[in-house]
Formats: sequence, structure tokens, C-alpha cells
Amino acid sequence: MAEDVTARAAQLRRQLEYHNWRYYVLDDPVITDSQYDRLLRELMRLEEEHPELKTPDSPTQRVGGAPRPEFGTVVHRVPLFSLANAYNEEELRDFDRRIRDLAGDAKVEYVVELKIDGLAVSLTYENGVFVQGATRGDGVTGEDITANLRTVRSLPLRLHPEAGAPPLVEVRGEVFMPKQAFLELNARREEEGEPLFANPRNAAAGSLRQLDPKVTAARSLDTFLYGLGAAEGLEPATHWELLEFLRRAGFKVNPHIRMAANIEEAIAYCLSWRERRAELPYPIDGLVLKVNSLELQRALGTTAKSPRWAIAYKFPAEQGETRLKEIIVSVGRTGVLTPTAVFDPPVHLAGTTVSRAALHNEEIIHARDIRVGDIVLVEKAGDIIPEVVASRPERRTGKETVFHMPQKCPACGAEVVRLPGEVAHRCPNVSCPARLRESLLHFGSRAALDIDGLGPALINLLLERGLIKDVADLYHLQAEELAELPRFGAKSAANLLAALAASKTRSWDRLLYALGIRYVGATVAKTLAAHFPDLRSLMAAGREELTAIPGVGEKVAASLVDFFAEPRNRETIERLAAAGLNMSGRRRERAGPLSGKTFVLTGTLAGFTRSEAQAAIEERGGRVTGSVSRATDYVVAGEKPGSKLDKARALGVPVLSEEEFKKLLEERLVQA
Ligand code: IVH
Repeated sequence: MAEDVTARAAQLRRQLEYHNWRYYVLDDPVITDSQYDRLLRELMRLEEEHPELKTPDSPTQRVGGAPRPEFGTVVHRVPLFSLANAYNEEELRDFDRRIRDLAGDAKVEYVVELKIDGLAVSLTYENGVFVQGATRGDGVTGEDITANLRTVRSLPLRLHPEAGAPPLVEVRGEVFMPKQAFLELNARREEEGEPLFANPRNAAAGSLRQLDPKVTAARSLDTFLYGLGAAEGLEPATHWELLEFLRRAGFKVNPHIRMAANIEEAIAYCLSWRERRAELPYPIDGLVLKVNSLELQRALGTTAKSPRWAIAYKFPAEQGETRLKEIIVSVGRTGVLTPTAVFDPPVHLAGTTVSRAALHNEEIIHARDIRVGDIVLVEKAGDIIPEVVASRPERRTGKETVFHMPQKCPACGAEVVRLPGEVAHRCPNVSCPARLRESLLHFGSRAALDIDGLGPALINLLLERGLIKDVADLYHLQAEELAELPRFGAKSAANLLAALAASKTRSWDRLLYALGIRYVGATVAKTLAAHFPDLRSLMAAGREELTAIPGVGEKVAASLVDFFAEPRNRETIERLAAAGLNMSGRRRERAGPLSGKTFVLTGTLAGFTRSEAQAAIEERGGRVTGSVSRATDYVVAGEKPGSKLDKARALGVPVLSEEEFKKLLEERLVQA
């Protein structure tokens, strides 16, 4: 094998790991995503052509390898201790007194850290290379989750050279799921009919303990490192020095760690987080105080379970009592009835005011013995979702009432059904106004047909006035009737009609998603649209043809077949077709090498005027739009780009420089 190939692979690995660190650890990338992808693709190609070049610490391994039958066990070289808890200031002062008794005259400084609500892991690096990662387990032995941890982007697969590649280090820290990622994961699971995770901690644990590393790779897990197990060739004198080493070595270290010169400073810092914790993008359940001097740590030693030199200050349980005033029942797009508790007065929990909480279903309400009018205990599960955990039966007055799911739909009066094996109650009426309202909202939402101005208030008005009865009616609205709506002038009417006209030209995967078929989320819709030339051929497909498509399972196939078998649904689709909605892959634009690609231009290009750039894209069959969304394929950024560039970065849309844009145009010449 040519030496330059080996050298190139090594260089690419170094570059990719550097950019990975800039992006995931520092949150400050210096190259665009498309530049990163290009480097990664080059390395993947080299490794494919020369499999002997593949190394376990290659960034190509971050996508997740093959599933395994079970986890191996790992015996920790140094056990992972847990922490003793303190629940108030007095208990923290007791802790400090015990330490100072032993320390004699020595000054005792503390490092104060946030207590991240995730999962402890231990990572072994040999000569600077990540070789093994394990869960805490019982503290002595854990599970080998090396393959899964490789997929966690903020963990270095190789320590930075500044760290000096010590022969052995076991680094300890927390793997967690950010709050937003947790909410999005659950929203997706709900749409796909999967059971929900109770809190970010469970979601992180469930994601990390997956036999298939590809599943872990698809979950947004993050890390903060804060400790050391066994180590050779590394001897920090203080905990603070250790944290500095971790940062230099390329690990993510929490930015809110502080030194405290004495216990009072440490206490003040702990208390300052009680009201601020809601602002953090990740869950915490307290703070941790650690003696800074490692010599003093060694002198203090450990008890059977926990070190004497550290303690966790746990926030007082984020619980509150209030009265459950009523339980309201709402009807979702798929007809599921969801009960919600309304509190009077609202409760303050972990820095937020909570006036409502989802109650999930009737079974849970009865299992927790929750009645309307009860004094209830409200808690924030995993620092994020408010939940009614219990009632106070001893405080009942006799006026409380047992809750039952309504037998008739609260919106349309149809008989509510409960399918065998399901806990959910449903309204079976496809034209139920509540279901219709939710369906219309979904139909016009960003990721669906993106109909600007079609919000909840307008939908209510249109339904109340009888102007629409289903999604197809939207396309028969007249300017005059709209202009007569309260607070809706000629201008708003014209805007809405323009937005509706624009929605007709969206790609048909978005229409398919907009129809709101159960289990057909945006991703499944794209998969289907890549497979069938148009909506009609999808409608004609049977279960077998559907399940043969990778990414389409039995549940999705059955749901599609049922949906298209329903005469009302077929009729709605026919009416949408008659109104001129795009239902095929052949878009209205000219066919060409950029067919189906949507571009957004921002900033000034040196070699093109705006209209020249647009013409070059359109000649090749592509499309240019004015604003960046998830449906945008590329943003071309010239000099002085505007906020569109930030938006593209935030949504993960590939950004092209002028140079890259020119290359793309050259690669995709206009065919004669
Ligand atoms: S130190 C011997 N520091 O809390 C030291 N733990 O209740 C043991 N945790 O198992 C750990 N943030 O999973 C430490 N900054 C932090 C932490 C932290 C979260 C977790 C860790 C540990 C548990 C103990």
C-alpha cells in the first residue's frame, strides 16, 4: 500500500477529530458541515479501498458498528463510588467540620460542580487512545458499552497531544441527554407509537444500553467529565488541576465549575443554582462539593460506599402541593383523548410556574387515586416534565369526584372507543371538529405544507363559520368571504390566499406527511416519496410492496393501506389533486441534474449577480426560495451573509461557499 495513503488517512483522522472537538466540545466550529462531510467521505472511501487502514479510533466508527448479542462485563480498576447526600446548609457545614477536624491547620478549599442528572461512565485511554468504556454498574463491575460510547460525539477517540498521551488513564464523568433532545425524542416516539421515556436520565440510559450502536448514534447524547480512576503518567496535585487536564485532553468539562475558598462560599454558590437551574439546557439534580487537594482527599479516604472528601447537595425535592381544580380532555389529530390536570393555584417548581400537567390516561389517574378537587403532589420528573405523583386522601372534604373518561367525544359527541390492548380512548369520528382542527394545524405546519398564517385562531374561525369542513376546502376559500372575518382585512386575505397557492407546489413527500397518516412522520414520508414516482402509485401499493422498502415496517404499511382504503380519504385526495396540489416527484421545475434541490442565496457572490446565480440553478432543474427551512437542500453564502446563514447552521442545512457552489454547478452541467 502506498505510504501516502496511510499518511493521508492519518491526516484526515486528525483533522476530523479536531473539527469534531470544535463543534461538539467547544460549540465553535471553524468549517462548514459540508466541508466536514467531504473530509469524512474521503476517509470512508480510503478505508473502504484499504480495509487494513481502519482503526477503532477512526472518526468513521462514530456512526455505530454492528449490533452485539449482549454486553460484556468490565471490572473497574478503581471502583466508582457514589456520593453521600446533604439536603440543607447545616448538613454541608457538618461535612466541612468533619473535614477540618482531620485536616488540622491546612486550609480546605472546595471545588463546586453541578450534579448532572445522567449516567456515570468510566472511559479507559491507553497511550492516548480510547480502548474501553463502561457503565458504573454496581461500582465494582460495569457493562462494556465501548461501541456505543464511540458514537457520542463529544468524547475524544484520541486524547489531544497536549495531554501528553499518558500510558493509562481512566476518566470518569456523566453521559446525559439535553432537555430539548429529550423532548424531541419523545415527540418522535409518540408519533411513531413507541413508549415514552419518563425523563432525560432514563432516555440517556436507554440510549446507552442499546445492543445496536446505530441506535445510540442516532440519539443526541452529550458528556461532562469530572473525575479520574486509575492513572499512570498523570499526577495532578488538585482536583482543579485534574479538570484542567481533562479540558486540555479534549474532554467536555462543565463551564459552571467554581472554586470556593471555604464552606460558606460553596453554600452560597449551591443556593444560587436553586432558581437558575431551569435555564440550563440539561438536567441537574444538585451540586457536588469536592475537596480540592488530592493529598487531603487521600488522607480522608472513603467509607464502604462513598468518599469522605465529597458530598452531593441535593436540591429540595421539586415538589409542590396544590388543588387539582379540573381535568380537561382534549382530542388529538388521531382521535386520542388526553386528560390534563388544571391546578388552582399554579405551583412553582424548579424555577418555573406550572398550571397544568398531562395525566396520560385513565388507568394512571386511578392507580394514583387522583380525584377532581383533591390536594395533589406535583413533581418535575427529571427536572423537566411536571407530573401529578400522588393525592392527599387525608385532606379530602367529601366533595371530590372520581374521574372517568367521557363516553362521548367532548368535541363531537361520537361514542368513544377503546381498542383491545390499548390504554388510550379514541374518538372514531374522522370528521370530528377537534380532530379536524388538529389535522388542519398539522396540514399547514412548517414541516408539512408550511401555510403561513394558518394558525389556531384562524382555523377556529373558519370552522365556526362553516367555511371549511376538511383540508381540501382550504383551496376553495374566496377573498371576499375571508375579508369579512373579524380582524381580517383584504390584506390578510390576500396573504393567506398567496400562502395557500404557494403550498400547492411543495414536494409531495410533504403533502404525504401533511395528510397526518398514523406512523407516517416526515422521515417515513421522504422514504416513501423516494420510492414511488407519485402519490397515486403509493395509494395502489399493497402491504408486501410497502414492507419491502427499508425503513417501512408492518405498522407503517398497515396504517397506509387502511388510510387509503377509506373512501373519505380517497375523496379528499382527489379534491386536493383537482385543486392543483403537487402529487408527483416530477416537479414543475425543469428536469435537470439539480432536480428536486432547493437553494437559498445569502450575501454577495463575486462571480454572479443574484439573478445569474438563480438562473444557473434553475437551468439545472433546481429551485431558489427566499427562506431557510428544513426542506432547504443548500444555502449558498457569499460575502456578508445574513441571518439565513445562522438559520442554516441551526437547522443543519449544508452551507456552500461560492467556490463550492461553482464546483457543484460544474459537476452538474446542463445536459443537451
Ligand atoms: S463525583 C467519588 N461529580 O452523581 C465521586 N458525580 O450520586 C463520585 N454525578 O454516580 C462521583 N454529576 O453519576 C460526581 N459533578 C459530578 C457529578 C456526579 C453527576 C453523578 C454520578 C454519581 C452520582 C452520585
